[in-house]
Amino acid sequence: MKRFRQYRTNAAVRDKYADIHLNAQDFIYPYFVEEGEGNVTPIPTMPGINRYTPDTLLDDVKETLELGINKILLFGVIPTSEKDEQGSGAYSDHSLIVRTIKTLKEKYPALIIITDVCLCEYTNHGHCGLLHDHDVDNDTTLPLLAEMAYQHALAGADFVAPSAMMDGQVEAIRKKLNETPSLKTKILAYSAKYASAFYGPFRDAAESTPSFGDRKSYQMDFRTRNQGLEEIAADLEEGADWTMVKPAMPYLDIIARGKEQFPDIPMVSYQVSGEYAMLKAAAQAQFLDEPRVVYESLIAIKRAGADYIITYYAKEWLKKWNQ
Ligand code: PBG
Repeated sequence: MKRFRQYRTNAAVRDKYADIHLNAQDFIYPYFVEEGEGNVTPIPTMPGINRYTPDTLLDDVKETLELGINKILLFGVIPTSEKDEQGSGAYSDHSLIVRTIKTLKEKYPALIIITDVCLCEYTNHGHCGLLHDHDVDNDTTLPLLAEMAYQHALAGADFVAPSAMMDGQVEAIRKKLNETPSLKTKILAYSAKYASAFYGPFRDAAESTPSFGDRKSYQMDFRTRNQGLEEIAADLEEGADWTMVKPAMPYLDIIARGKEQFPDIPMVSYQVSGEYAMLKAAAQAQFLDEPRVVYESLIAIKRAGADYIITYYAKEWLKKWNQ
């Protein structure tokens, strides 16, 4: 008989044998930025999460840095009246995100800024690329994603994170960035991004719900066992520096297998809006003990193999519950 209970005698013994730990450095905190001044707008489906204008964002990032989080992910939310068929607001050289990166970098040079590269928050149809015959056209979308990434890089982004799920998007961005050798911007590829119902609350937050159809012709079908790994391999081949599996908790198998196959590549996983909303709602109904389920979920993502976790819980965790 093996005496496993000797590992669990009391808290100190359990701590001694625990080999998965969470640190502030593991977290990437997502931010929604909108035009304007002085506003902090709560997102109803994501209690505790807000949209910020560039000035209020500066204040909030101060707190984030004080908690020890040094990596943030930026999403832009522009007024509906400024959206168009081509998503022009995404790749202009004075876009909302370009201005936000500059403001942030000026004040917090050590902050690591990652930007989402996708057209869905900027197109009037809400799809992630250009439309052709009611479908998203892959190849004409690529130069626009590359230009968007390039503008973010020029403004000072440390990472660009293409999330449109167009084939060849990493290569298109890598080539564009390489034209300016002084740019040090890296690519965090949303490699295995599934067409997930767990993105629901995000689409409210970013006002990016497609006006017709869905994203299943470009985001991955979750009924496939190996495609996620093929997507990761292709992105690395195309020049991605870091890779991502998204969402997190329903895809722990993909995180684990991806990390096993590519042990030297930093693996990021995104605990998405719906995962957050689900835990929040259950906590508010007092069906679950929030700090404990959050801890267990984040540890699970790390145990599966994620080196970094994008989570809306990062600040709350460090502020209130970190033991
Ligand atoms: C943009 C994008 C989405 C998310 C991240 N980048 C939405 C989508 O694909 O519909 C979702 C993040 C979340 O749910 O927290 N394409």
